[in-house]
Amino acid sequence: MERVDREGRAVVASKVPPYRTVAYSVARRGVEGVRRRLRGRLDIIQLHWPPPVFAPLCWHVRALERLVLEGMAGAYGLSNFPAPLVEKALECSRRLEPASLQVQYSLAYRSPENRLLPLARKTGLALIAWSPLVKGALAGVARPSDPAQRRDRVFREAAGDRELQEALDEAARRTGMTRAQVALAWLVSKGALPIPGTRRPERVAEIAGAARGLPEDVVESLDRASARYLTRWGRCYRALQWIRLVPCSLQYLALRLSGGV
Ligand SMILES: NC(=O)c1ccc[n+]([C@@H]2O[C@H](COP(=O)([O-])OP(=O)(O)OC[C@H]3O[C@@H](n4cnc5c(N)ncnc54)[C@H](OP(=O)(O)O)[C@@H]3O)[C@@H](O)[C@H]2O)c1
Repeated sequence: MERVDREGRAVVASKVPPYRTVAYSVARRGVEGVRRRLRGRLDIIQLHWPPPVFAPLCWHVRALERLVLEGMAGAYGLSNFPAPLVEKALECSRRLEPASLQVQYSLAYRSPENRLLPLARKTGLALIAWSPLVKGALAGVARPSDPAQRRDRVFREAAGDRELQEALDEAARRTGMTRAQVALAWLVSKGALPIPGTRRPERVAEIAGAARGLPEDVVESLDRASARYLTRWGRCYRALQWIRLVPCSLQYLALRLSGGV
C-alpha cells in the first residue's frame, strides 16, 4: 500500500499476520521479510488481524512496538480490530502507541462509524479504509467478473442497491467527479484514508482527485442513501473476527496450504 504524506512523500505500509508477531524474535523475522520484499523503506507495519483468543494481545503489540523503536519501521498499526480490542491494544503499548487502524469501510459498509471512527478521532489513530470501492461496485461495476467480487456479499448488495447507485450518479453529476472519486471523497470527508486497489496505473490520477473531499450537502445526501449500512453488517465492527478462534499454528498451516504464505 502506498500513500502520500503531507510533504508529498509516498508512505509505504504493509501488514504481518499475528502468527508472525507472536514473539519478538518471530516478529523480527516477519518484518525483515516484508522489508526484503519491498526492497526499500517501510513506514507503517500493521498487524493484519487481531491475534487468536489464546495468544495474549500484548505480546504482539509489544513486539511491533519494539521493532519500531529499533527502526525496523516508521510506525506500527492495527487492522481489523473491533473497538474493545483497540482499547486493549492501546493499554498494552508502553512507549509507543499504534499510529493507524485499517478496517473495512465504505458507503456500503458503515459499521466503523458507530464506535471505531469516534475512537480513532479521540485517540489520534489514522483510520485507513480498505475495500473503499467495494471491489468496484461503487465505481459502476454492476456484475462480478472475478472470484473475489463473486464471493463478496457487500459487493453483491452494493451493486444491486438502486438508491445508493442513483445517489452516486447524482453526486458525480453535481460535483463533476467520477463515481469512484465520489465514493473515495466521501470517506475523506469522514476523516478516513481510503486505500483503493487497482491494476491500472492510469487510474492513479483519478484516485488522487478524490483527496479534496466533498461539499457538505453532497456528503449528507450520500449519508441518507447509505444509512442502512450503518447497521446492515452489524452495529459493531466484526470483519475477520471468526479467525480469532483459530490458533496461530492452524492459521499458518491453512494459509501455507492455500498458497497464501
Ligand atoms: N486489512 C485487510 O484485511 C484488507 C482486506 C482486503 C483488502 N485490503 C486492502 O484494501 C485495498 C483495496 O481493497 P479492494 O481491492 O478490496 O478494494 P477496492 O478498492 O474497493 O476495489 C478495487 C476494485 O475496484 C476496481 N476499480 C478501481 N477503480 C475503479 C474505477 N475507477 N472504475 C471501475 N472500477 C474500479 C478495481 O479494478 P481495476 O484493477 O481494473 O482498476 C478493482 O477490481 C488493498 O490495498 C488491500 O491490501 C485490506
